[in-house]
Amino acid sequence: MSATITSIAHYLPPDIYTNEYFEKYLETSNEWILARTGIHERRFLKEGATSDLIVPAAEECIAKRGIDKNEIDCILVATVTPDHNFPSTAAIVQHKLGIKNCWGFDISAACSGFVFAMATAASLVNSGAAKKVLLCGGDKMSSIVNFNDRAQAILFGDGAGVCLIEKSDDEAKGMLDQLLFIDGNGGQYLHQKAGGSAKPASHESVDNQEHYIYQDGQAVFKAAVVGMADVSTEIMKRNNLTSEDIAWLVPHQANLRIISATANRMGIGPEKVMINIDKYGNTTAGTIPICLSEWLSNGKIKDGDNLVLSSFGAGFTWGAIYLKWHTNGVI
Ligand code: UT7
Repeated sequence: MSATITSIAHYLPPDIYTNEYFEKYLETSNEWILARTGIHERRFLKEGATSDLIVPAAEECIAKRGIDKNEIDCILVATVTPDHNFPSTAAIVQHKLGIKNCWGFDISAACSGFVFAMATAASLVNSGAAKKVLLCGGDKMSSIVNFNDRAQAILFGDGAGVCLIEKSDDEAKGMLDQLLFIDGNGGQYLHQKAGGSAKPASHESVDNQEHYIYQDGQAVFKAAVVGMADVSTEIMKRNNLTSEDIAWLVPHQANLRIISATANRMGIGPEKVMINIDKYGNTTAGTIPICLSEWLSNGKIKDGDNLVLSSFGAGFTWGAIYLKWHTNGVI
């Protein structure tokens, strides 16, 4: 039994912020940002929330599949920038899309959010608990980035990707394996200090700028390089995949150097790695579905292609999914 993607779309806000934008007010340079991260530009949503990134992608995804939206029986939203702490962004997305008779919930796993949510969606479909899961990954990172901190302002962007997960009509294709991890010891290196029940918002927390991202970049970088490479090589090994067998590595887009280190360890050349960090920066739960959606619409993913989706993020959370691409007769 396997679950597969039967439709996919993405949304990026129109407003582009290049490295030159940051050069104007921060002590940084296009050269530093490109060399250290691979990012040249990113998009920020000027008005609206994460659900406003997800809804246009979801509408396109449903239209491409050509189904009645009410056939969707579950909505999962992977995000660390929910519209509100509660209600869930899944409920807001459901309401904005006007889908009747479905359930859903949010998944918080930061940059691994999409991979974790995809594994969850597959379990729901494989168990028969759901037939058509609307799987959404998106973040409005500009709502939590400290734009006066040069080490984080340049890294992130806003965007979302949405796909439909359904039962595969070919059991040998679709999502064939997953390897997922969480280690709370990594929390100290990447977190948001205030705004949760541990430290509710107060004048003091706002004065101390504790609602922004806190990141020890080097510590996260070191753990990400090891975590993403390990999990990606392990999933190849246990599925007897050589680098020749892989059509595409679909890595979370946090830093081009982390992506390159992962690809090197897998023995995969740059021509087989999906990279769009240069255009969009790190959109957290959005990076992997945005890549998949772009590559598919450019005709670069073929039926039967072996894809390894790989991520690392706050928690720490990390994981990989082995996906044998299946058109299922619909995409
Ligand atoms: O997806 C969520 C998970 N997050 C990640 O995966 C992020 C992982 N970490 C990284 O990508 C990198 O650590 C960063 C891009 C955040 C930083 O790159 P780095 O090569 O690790 O730089 P660094 O933190 O070691 O800093 C080196 C220098 C420092 O200056 P000093 O102390 O050597 O004088 C920084 O202050 O670079 C400085 N620096 C900058 N300089 C120019 C930091 N940010 C900038 C900047 N422009 N934007």
